[in-house]
Amino acid sequence: MTTRLSPFLFFLFLFVSQAIILQAQDEEAIMPESNHVCLKCHGHKYYSFFNEYKDLTERKLMNPYFVIDSVSYLQGEHKGHSCTDCHSSDYENYPHIADLKIQPKMTCVDCHDFEVIATEVKKSVHVEAFGEFFHCELCHDPHSNKLVKSDMAELVLYNNNRCLNCHNDADKYQVFTSHENPQLLSTHDWLPNQALHFTRVRCIECHTSVTDTSDAVHHILPKEQAVHNCNECHSENSLLRDKLYKHQLKQDRSEFNFYNSFILNDAYVIGANRNYYVNLISLIIFGCTLFGIIIHVILRIIKRK
Ligand code: HEC
Ligand code: HEC
Ligand code: HEC
Ligand code: HEC
Ligand code: HEC
Ligand code: HEC
Ligand code: HEC
Repeated sequence: MTTRLSPFLFFLFLFVSQAIILQAQDEEAIMPESNHVCLKCHGHKYYSFFNEYKDLTERKLMNPYFVIDSVSYLQGEHKGHSCTDCHSSDYENYPHIADLKIQPKMTCVDCHDFEVIATEVKKSVHVEAFGEFFHCELCHDPHSNKLVKSDMAELVLYNNNRCLNCHNDADKYQVFTSHENPQLLSTHDWLPNQALHFTRVRCIECHTSVTDTSDAVHHILPKEQAVHNCNECHSENSLLRDKLYKHQLKQDRSEFNFYNSFILNDAYVIGANRNYYVNLISLIIFGCTLFGIIIHVILRIIKRK
């Protein structure tokens, strides 16, 4: 009887734990109360305010670059922050005081110790070309930045958008330079199956130096030093091991204690579907079912006699 029950209990356990996790996530995703003051205007395409001079309420178009998406804000790592943790509380008043525009805002390094990263950023092509004016927030939107670790497709997409946000947007690009932005599709047309590559590897795989520390993803090299050689990835000793797959490897190494040649020589290539827990759970379910059937058969044989 207990054997028959165990798959059921197992599923019950899964269901309950999942429900608890979802509940916890729901509770976490709440915007700090004070942010509503700002989002009343900055959360929408339009904003309204009372114009004392004209004695009437006006409705206007918000500058699209000043719209903060509250959904991605709540998914970011600063979701618990008030706007005024980083912006002056003088912003609560509208019209905003003119001076605020040019006052420095709180940046990543004001609150975090990212010294090693900052040193790497300084060596990158961008800072070499544009100096400190090329700041962290151009790639890390403080209103939505997050570190994607498990979902490989989302990880690649999210990270490539850090670069494409600017490299595919002539307006943003030309804040920095008067030349036209390079046509990425044609500059990468030597790469076969380009569309597939751009969804499977990050830009930084080819454009940064190869080391196994995460900080080095910030050392963006001149284009002449970008990875051009297929074997850098399509080989047993793939550079992807130290970069793209590092989170998975950390997990796999501690769980399986193996390291070599699982990336591009077995069917997995991307390793994303190699999830230890999914495997374990299906094994358990399979085991329980098999055990149930065996007991069932044995009982029937015994009963017949
Ligand atoms: C009544 C609407 C309204 C409210 C409320 C409001 N803002 Fe604004 N904000 C604007 C508009 C419109 C602009 C565009 C520039 C301007 O008109 O001053 C702006 C500009 C900004 C800018 C960009 C300034 C620059 O040019 O670099 C920041 C940052 C900002 N607001 C932050 C905030 C914060 C933080 C809050 C809440 C504490 C807030 N705002 C509340 C309407 C509003
Ligand atoms: C963790 C710090 C942080 C928090 C929290 C934060 N901001 Fe910002 N915000 C910044 C920084 C830094 C910039 C300047 C970005 C840049 O120069 O690229 C900025 C820029 C802006 C801008 C101008 C857009 C631009 O690209 O210059 C607006 C508008 C704005 N923030 C509104 C808000 C509102 C509204 C909230 C709360 C819902 C908020 N911010 C919360 C750090 C923060
Ligand atoms: C006003 C101070 C402040 C600023 C500015 C700020 N952060 Fe944070 N950041 C925090 C705090 C506090 C946490 C912890 C949040 C939590 O645990 O809920 C955090 C969390 C993080 C995390 C997650 C780390 C972890 O251990 O969970 C990362 C990564 C991060 N910030 C990166 C950045 C980057 C990149 C920038 C610049 C775009 C930035 N931060 C700007 C205060 C700040
Ligand atoms: C040219 C774009 C770019 C600039 C500029 C940039 N970063 Fe990054 N940063 C990235 C990319 C891409 C990653 C890789 C994220 C990943 O793999 O999920 C990253 C990762 C990070 C991480 C997470 C590292 C980890 O593996 O835990 C932090 C923290 C960080 N950056 C902080 C900063 C700070 C601080 C600055 C400014 C001094 C900065 N970044 C400037 C693109 C940039
Ligand atoms: C498979 C490796 C690889 C990937 C992935 C890759 N690149 Fe490149 N990229 C290169 C190489 C190699 C060059 C130099 C091409 C040349 O000069 O012929 C280059 C050139 C460039 C240039 C300079 C173009 C010019 O004409 O000045 C930019 C900008 C660039 N890449 C950005 C990106 C961005 C953004 C992404 C992600 C969406 C990306 N790259 C993904 C390998 C790659
Ligand atoms: C805010 C805009 C912006 C962002 C974000 C950005 N770039 Fe750039 N990038 C530029 C500009 C502008 C240039 C042109 C530099 C020049 O004129 O010398 C450039 C140049 C380059 C070059 C060519 C360097 C050379 O040797 O000619 C590469 C490669 C490159 N970027 C890769 C990246 C990657 C990878 C990312 C994301 C991790 C990224 N960029 C994010 C604006 C940006
Ligand atoms: C930065 C690492 C990297 C570099 C450099 C690279 N590739 Fe790839 N390539 C990949 C990844 C990852 C995939 C996706 C494999 C998958 O998910 O099926 C892929 C897929 C492919 C595919 C499609 C295979 C299929 O399943 O359809 C071909 C063909 C290919 N690469 C050829 C090349 C050639 C030729 C070069 C050199 C000009 C090259 N690649 C350079 C990482 C790389």
